[in-house]
Amino acid sequence: MNTKNHALLYHGKAKSVYKTDDPEIVIVKFRDDITAGDGEKKDTLSAKGHLNSIISAKFFEILEAADIKTQYIKLLEPGVMLSHRLDMIPLEVITRNIAAGSLLRKFPFKDKQEFDPPIIQMDYKSDEFHDPMINDDIAVALGFVTREELNEIRRITLKINQVLKIFLLEKGIIFPDFKIEFGKNHKGEIILGDEISPDSCRFWDSKTCEVLDKDLFRKGETGVMDAYLEVASRILDDNEKEKWDIKLV
Ligand code: TMP
Ligand code: ASP
Repeated sequence: MNTKNHALLYHGKAKSVYKTDDPEIVIVKFRDDITAGDGEKKDTLSAKGHLNSIISAKFFEILEAADIKTQYIKLLEPGVMLSHRLDMIPLEVITRNIAAGSLLRKFPFKDKQEFDPPIIQMDYKSDEFHDPMINDDIAVALGFVTREELNEIRRITLKINQVLKIFLLEKGIIFPDFKIEFGKNHKGEIILGDEISPDSCRFWDSKTCEVLDKDLFRKGETGVMDAYLEVASRILDDNEKEKWDIKLV
């Protein structure tokens, strides 16, 4: 699809959002760009945009089937998602089922310590301020959300965690943690936006704990796209793999 005919609304580090004729509908283009360290480390990985859009579409469909409202309308083609327009809330809502990543660098948790109930952490999404951890009082004082909206975000987030954790385990994947973002639609409703992909989640093989996500890139390891392809190949059914031409390399 040629996005040149559409006005650009937003250009992020890995996705671009374009206008359509309908002011409440946008096109989200998943690009091949990959970054870490607030954009300091950069690369382009062929097929990443396609894979992340297909993986995100699958997760959004599963969540919609569980009555969770998402921005997703449909995948027009690999890499190009038709979505409801949202006013995004600049919060990274991180759910942790197992201790990993920055949590271990910041706090004295044991590696792979399990959390039940899960921990919900919120960071302020800002490269300039390096995504600092935020609390409810600060988020409200900054005018990002009301306390009622924070409660709603937590309620939806716990449900998303529950639905995806169970789905992934059936596919042989553990779900240590993930980051999601919410926005408000024209009615002011809190809706899940952004993406759910190996860029924004930790996925580990349930038998070997092999890493199947962006941590490989963050740590400078090889096989990043093979890992993303492995996630797609495990979560999609055969019809979806054929439709999107997903082949194991
Ligand atoms: P962290 O352990 O590095 O804080 O990451 C927690 C989760 O959030 C992990 O699943 C990866 C995801 N994440 C993002 O989506 N964007 C980011 O900028 C970072 C740092 C993490
Ligand atoms: N948000 C980070 C970046 O901007 C990426 C990450 O570590 O996921 O580069």
